[in-house]
Amino acid sequence: MTESQPIIKMNGISFAYSENSPILKDLDFEFFKNNKIGLIAPNGSGKTTLFHLMMGLLKPTAGSIEFFGKPMTCEQDFADIRYRTGLLFQDADDQLFCPTVLEDVSFGPLNMGKSRKEAIEISRRTLDFLGLSDFENRITFKLSGGEKKLVSLATVLSMEPEVLLLDEPLTGLDTKTRATITSVLTEMNISYIIISHNIEFMKTTTDQILTLRDGKLYDDAQVHVHIHDHAHVHGNMPHKH
Ligand SMILES: Nc1ncnc2c1ncn2[C@@H]1O[C@H](COP(=O)(O)OP(=O)(O)OP(=O)(O)O)[C@@H](O)[C@H]1O
Ligand SMILES: [Mg+2]
Repeated sequence: MTESQPIIKMNGISFAYSENSPILKDLDFEFFKNNKIGLIAPNGSGKTTLFHLMMGLLKPTAGSIEFFGKPMTCEQDFADIRYRTGLLFQDADDQLFCPTVLEDVSFGPLNMGKSRKEAIEISRRTLDFLGLSDFENRITFKLSGGEKKLVSLATVLSMEPEVLLLDEPLTGLDTKTRATITSVLTEMNISYIIISHNIEFMKTTTDQILTLRDGKLYDDAQVHVHIHDHAHVHGNMPHKH
């Protein structure tokens, strides 16, 4: 992959869960190294669907996806890129499946071929980085919603991915924990796309904000204008206050 080559390139992507209601329509997208992109769009507009298509968890009805310059043509292609691309699921219960936190966080590194000792070292380092040092023996399913979200982030970061796809990383987190996530992201030298409805967070952590409208992505300058004025998003829709 050359520096000028996109990490992710989506070309003419269309997707529908059922025939009558297409969610994405002929969508194009390019994502480059060091890009920090925010995606703000209404509930149900297809943001999570877009992430799942990027990860190969859903198959587009039309169009093509390339990762690191390689066309994704089969499940094995996606299996390879999932080591390099960390998806934080919107729902932490989709992410966590081991009995204890340490097992969940070390699952990724172990699966990537690290030794047990190395995997545990990376996992402890990651938990420490997120202020979760005391969590390693906690029972995953007994964690609170916010704790699950943080541990989910630890499972993603422990794989040391090159790209992060974060689907509503702040949901359910208190003010202090939101601040921790914000500083973690601004400190890390990593490319990412964040889905969030929290505009202040997006302003701090991303360089460009996109929106999803009628199944396509737009770099919506008006989103920025409104961010400063009213802290909500209207895109091109006329509106009053
Ligand atoms: N498994 C599914 N089967 C059928 N329809 C689905 C499925 N998952 C999502 N949808 C529908 O697809 C549309 C887009 O859903 P998606 O989860 O991508 O939206 P979103 O933009 O992430 O919304 P939110 O902000 O609420 O998370 C919604 O109308 C949703 O009902
Ligand atoms: Mg969603």
